[in-house]
Parts: sequence; C-alpha cells; structure tokens
Amino acid sequence: MSGSLDGRVAVVTGGGSGIGRACALRLAADGAKVGVFDLDGESARAVADEITAAGGTAHGVGVDVTSREQINQGVGEIRGLWGPITILVNSAGRELFKRFLDITDELWNAVHDVNLAGTFRCCQAVAPDMIEAGWGRIVNISSSSAQGGQPFMTAYAASKGGVITFTKSLALELGPNGITVNTIPPGFIITPMTERNAAKGYLGADGLDAVAARTPVRRAGQPEDIAAACSFLCSDEAGYITGQIIGVNGGRNTTSAVF
Ligand SMILES: NC(=O)c1ccc[n+]([C@@H]2O[C@H](COP(=O)([O-])OP(=O)(O)OC[C@H]3O[C@@H](n4cnc5c(N)ncnc54)[C@H](O)[C@@H]3O)[C@@H](O)[C@H]2O)c1
Repeated sequence: MSGSLDGRVAVVTGGGSGIGRACALRLAADGAKVGVFDLDGESARAVADEITAAGGTAHGVGVDVTSREQINQGVGEIRGLWGPITILVNSAGRELFKRFLDITDELWNAVHDVNLAGTFRCCQAVAPDMIEAGWGRIVNISSSSAQGGQPFMTAYAASKGGVITFTKSLALELGPNGITVNTIPPGFIITPMTERNAAKGYLGADGLDAVAARTPVRRAGQPEDIAAACSFLCSDEAGYITGQIIGVNGGRNTTSAVF
C-alpha cells in the first residue's frame, strides 16, 4: 500500500470499531504505518490484522484513553516499532443518553474523561514527536451534536463542544511548529454506536430509515465518509487548513429546513 502518507507513522484511538476503524484502514491504504488503539484490545488487534492482510502495516494495542499510563505505553510501543508518531486521530468516544436531571457527577465525569480529557491526553503524548519533526497532523472526532445541541445528550454534547474549542486553541498554539489540528464532527454515521442507539429507540421511533429520509443527501453516512475527510486532513496538501470544523454530515446541521 502506498500513497499520500508514505513513510508516516499514525495512531488512531478507538480504532477497533466504526469511524476509528475506517480511519485506520484508510490511513494504512494511504501508506501510513498505523498504531490501532482501543479500550477493547482484541478489536484493535483484529483491525491491525485486517490491515496487514491487505498488505499494509499496523499494530494493535489495548489502550484506555482515560489512563495516561496506558497511552504512554501504547505510544512507546509504536515509537519503538517505527519511530516518531506524526499523525494522530482521536476517535475513541462514549455516548450517554440520559434525561438532564438524571445525570450524576460520576456519569458526567466519565463521559468527559473519555471524550475530552482522552483527546487532551493523547495529543499531549504525541505532540513532542510532532514538534521535534516540525510536522504533524491531528484530527479530533467531535460530534454534530455539539454544533446544534441534542436533547438527552447534554453531557456528551458538552464534552464534544469541548473537543471543538480544544481543537481551535491547540491549532493556534501548534501552528508555528508545522502541526495542523482540525476536527470532524460526524453527523449520523452508521456504526456499532449508532446501531446500538437505534436499537434502544434513541434515534426516534421510526429508526434509521426515517433519519436518512430527513438528511439532505437522503442517505446515512458511512464510516468511510469520515475516513476520506480524515485522510485529506492528514495529507501534505492540507497544510494550510488548521483549527477548522469540517462537517461530514450529508447536509445535516447545515440547514434548518427539512425538504
Ligand atoms: N456514529 C456517529 O454518527 C457519530 C456521530 C457523532 C460523533 N461520533 C463520534 O465518533 C467517534 C467514533 O464513534 P463510532 O460511531 O465509530 O462508535 P463505536 O462505538 O463504533 O467506536 C468507538 C470506539 O471507541 C472505543 N472506546 C470507547 N471508550 C474508550 C476508551 N476509554 N479508550 C479507548 N477506546 C475507547 C470503543 O471501544 C470503540 O471501539 C466517537 O468519538 C463518537 O462520539 C460518532
């Protein structure tokens, strides 16, 4: 496999499933060597095996992004294999659907610990490599719920809103070092997370088909839609794009009209 990311070393968190998996496969197809991190180490290793079987280079590691120790261990493992890491995709995330009045401090903190603080920790773990190289690409997966708001998702949407503001601020700070930092807020992408939520009725009684029918491009998004945007943001060509929110959402959150 070779392409726009030949010779680059990447880490994708939450790479064992859904959007993270698609980003890992795509970056590997573009020529990057990919460290696949996931809380579920088995799925991380399975995705790495999938990449290797397709002719790419990957290594799967069980990493919980709430643990600085596990992140440092995983990052050390990838560096030991292939050298400095200059691409990071933060896709690890957990959802929470709960009535506002039922959200406890523990739940609020647990969601923020993965979605926002996990992103912070992983960026901090690899930024020194990028600064040393004078080149880096960070893509943080946020959420369209942070752009439009979402009932019963106050903790989740707030954590993802934090990811957006964090991204903008880090982009300003690391820009002089040749590092770009952007965020993709996905909207309605079919992944195990979305299917889980649909099965519980969280997407409305009519289910996935009805949501697709209300989406301007009249289909649900696929993880590969996010991976394509991620691939571009990680390329050399995207070097003048930083601090941006690149919505990949089929037109949702862009228009208030349903037509
Ligand atoms: N699917 C969508 O429509 C959608 C919309 C908006 C935002 N997102 C965001 O996209 C990202 C990927 O979601 P997805 O839909 O692919 O879901 P998914 O559940 O398929 O994948 C999420 C992955 O993150 C991993 N993970 C969870 N907690 C972790 C932790 N503490 N440490 C490491 N890994 C952890 C899970 O094991 C899983 O493999 C998430 O951040 C999610 O919030 C998804």
